[in-house]
Amino acid sequence: MSKFLITGGAGYIGSTTASRLLRTGHEVVVVDDLSRGHAHNVEPARLRRMNLSETDALRRLMERERFDAVVHFAAYIAVGESTQAPELYFSNNVGGSLSLLTAMTHAGVSRLVFSSTAAVYGNPDRIPITEDQPFQPVSPYGESKVMVEKVLGWMDQFRGLRSVALRYFNACGADPESHRGEEHEPETHLIPLLFRAIRTGTPVTIFGEDYETKDGTCIRDYIHVSDLADAHICALNHLMAGGHSDSFNVGTGSGLTVMEVLRAVEDVTGRKVPYVVGARRDGDPPSLVANSDKLRKFLGWEPKCSDIRAIVADAWAFEGRVH
Ligand SMILES: NC(=O)c1ccc[n+]([C@@H]2O[C@H](COP(=O)([O-])OP(=O)(O)OC[C@H]3O[C@@H](n4cnc5c(N)ncnc54)[C@H](O)[C@@H]3O)[C@@H](O)[C@H]2O)c1
Repeated sequence: MSKFLITGGAGYIGSTTASRLLRTGHEVVVVDDLSRGHAHNVEPARLRRMNLSETDALRRLMERERFDAVVHFAAYIAVGESTQAPELYFSNNVGGSLSLLTAMTHAGVSRLVFSSTAAVYGNPDRIPITEDQPFQPVSPYGESKVMVEKVLGWMDQFRGLRSVALRYFNACGADPESHRGEEHEPETHLIPLLFRAIRTGTPVTIFGEDYETKDGTCIRDYIHVSDLADAHICALNHLMAGGHSDSFNVGTGSGLTVMEVLRAVEDVTGRKVPYVVGARRDGDPPSLVANSDKLRKFLGWEPKCSDIRAIVADAWAFEGRVH
């Protein structure tokens, strides 16, 4: 049994991963300031309500609990918001990570799994995207993750901190076992927005239908949150076994258009999704699909439940529980 500190563990992916770690016999403590997460996602006894900027409090917690590794989810995640308030994103995502790394250094915790993102690639030159493609972020959000990945490289070299950066593509679905799912506010992710349109009758906006894709809408790689949680367990196993620092894409390797997801939602729910077509959004690449061969080959990860119908069914079941 190992003991892990989960930052951002009251959020969507962090709480799903924490719950999976607990089910596999590990111990977890969650640090979250609840600015964007939910207390109901964490057992009260495991939650330390704290902002990442509280370096000394983090250090004391780490010295007391003697964690084997940190899994670092805590960040602000909305691309659009990051273009309106870049300083907020650099301060929270980069500043928060620096504070966490400082506390880890002082407390002697030397393994970290970091939530990175496909947004580090911006408008990639080649699809599917391999990890060796250059960083070309097109938003402060993407840049904030690039900056942390770069800091992790230096921390490896000069502080012996071993880290794995997982670059997630589109996280979605809900973990049927933990009963946790997506409850972002504001919500910017496609599947919850399609559900909201069904529930309220207010049409969802599809941003652009004139891309060079089969039906003109953007292509993304949708990865079930349970498969994403498994990738963290693979990364932790790698670090616990003395593995070196590295970065990996986490996606299925196949893309779906927005309209294909909308049709899957209609099929699975048996309900019509009201929608309107709007203009393209700035910085939205036509296609973002992962090549995840590296994660499969080196860490033995395999997506098990990322078929779009399974994703929608699990997310819809969660939606039914919440609304
Ligand atoms: N959701 C996705 O599709 C997606 C895709 C790529 C990468 N990511 C990354 O995965 C991570 C988790 O995403 P999510 O969808 O679960 O987000 P989320 O908003 O549900 O969870 C983030 C959690 O971090 C907490 N938090 C934020 N800043 C904090 C701080 N300074 N101190 C303490 N707590 C803080 C929030 O309260 C929240 O509970 C993020 O780092 C995000 O950038 C998510």
